[in-house]
Amino acid sequence: MDTCKVLAVETSCDETAIAIVENGKRVLANKVLSQIEIHKVFGGVVPEVASRHHLEGILPLVEEALEEANCTLDEIECIAVTNGPGLVGALLVGVSVAKSLAYGLNKPLVPVNHLAGHIYACFLDNPVEFPLVALIVSGGHTDLIYMDKHLSFEIMGQTRDDAAGEAFDKIARAMGLGYPGGPVVDKRAQKGDASAIGFPRVFLEKGSFDFSFSGLKSAVLNFLHNSEQRQEAINVDDVCASFQQAVVDVLVDKTIECAKFKGVDNVIIAGGVSANSGLRKSIEKRCNEEGLNLFRPSLSLCTDNAAMIATVGYYLYKAGVRADLELNAYASMPLG
Ligand SMILES: Nc1ncnc2c1ncn2[C@@H]1O[C@H](COP(=O)(O)OP(=O)(O)OP(=O)(O)O)[C@@H](O)[C@H]1O
Ligand SMILES: [Mg+2]
Repeated sequence: MDTCKVLAVETSCDETAIAIVENGKRVLANKVLSQIEIHKVFGGVVPEVASRHHLEGILPLVEEALEEANCTLDEIECIAVTNGPGLVGALLVGVSVAKSLAYGLNKPLVPVNHLAGHIYACFLDNPVEFPLVALIVSGGHTDLIYMDKHLSFEIMGQTRDDAAGEAFDKIARAMGLGYPGGPVVDKRAQKGDASAIGFPRVFLEKGSFDFSFSGLKSAVLNFLHNSEQRQEAINVDDVCASFQQAVVDVLVDKTIECAKFKGVDNVIIAGGVSANSGLRKSIEKRCNEEGLNLFRPSLSLCTDNAAMIATVGYYLYKAGVRADLELNAYASMPLG
């Protein structure tokens, strides 16, 4: 059988990532150099600092990936690269490296949308079937997408303000829980009472698949502020559990409604927040009750990585998509 090895480059935010994946499925190497410890000090990602660290880390990472995959650059069939959405300076590092590799090796260059990557992380370890509805919940996005076939993306809903991950990060910061907030809020929520505080669930107009999390975020910040003013002790575990439940209720409800609206049997959750234990449990339960098949990436593939980019890259390459050396990086870019 013909094999097609794709080398993928991902630098959209604060993870420098290189992967080599065969036929969009078999991961030969998936190297991620996380900058979390560097940005923790600042309480969030500093774009310029991220770009500089991508620059330092990326070329050794290409070498490491080739070594781990036990293959040479000659064996690579094409180079896939995330060219948006993301931090422009950070993306530029990856795009420049990918262009140089493609030019120097005379190999095709394939541009990949980062959000398509998050969805395709699911395809790496699941027998995903179409048509499907995908919920992307990450640091910068909360999107509901309908797909009837590969590379066909219909946006059903998006956040009108904060992304779910952003809300996790901001309330964690307000409670001094560090960066990134999602994993620690998740952990603390497991010890708390989700019904302790009645934070709002924002569903917007009837039939809308859009999201809004800024009101919920403000409600949590107000609660913390008022408790402090009244010198009342704050039970951080309860705040985390009540906040998380409010996010999860809306995410799960809208995803199930969207799946029913489109008449699909298959649901995907993807992106960093899809690692959340409350979301995983709750959506699994609802999908079971509704007779829907649920596909989730393994935990290590939820957050940014290049294996997911290689997988989209493979399907784009097979569909004949190519970029030339004029390829640019974009802070925001339509999916598809
Ligand atoms: N267990 C968890 N529970 C909730 N949120 C989580 C969990 N693990 C990670 N996150 C959140 O996921 C986000 C990071 O995810 P990801 O790497 O996909 O986002 P990003 O790449 O920064 O944004 P985007 O993909 O939209 O460009 C952060 O906001 C982080 O707090
Ligand atoms: Mg991401």
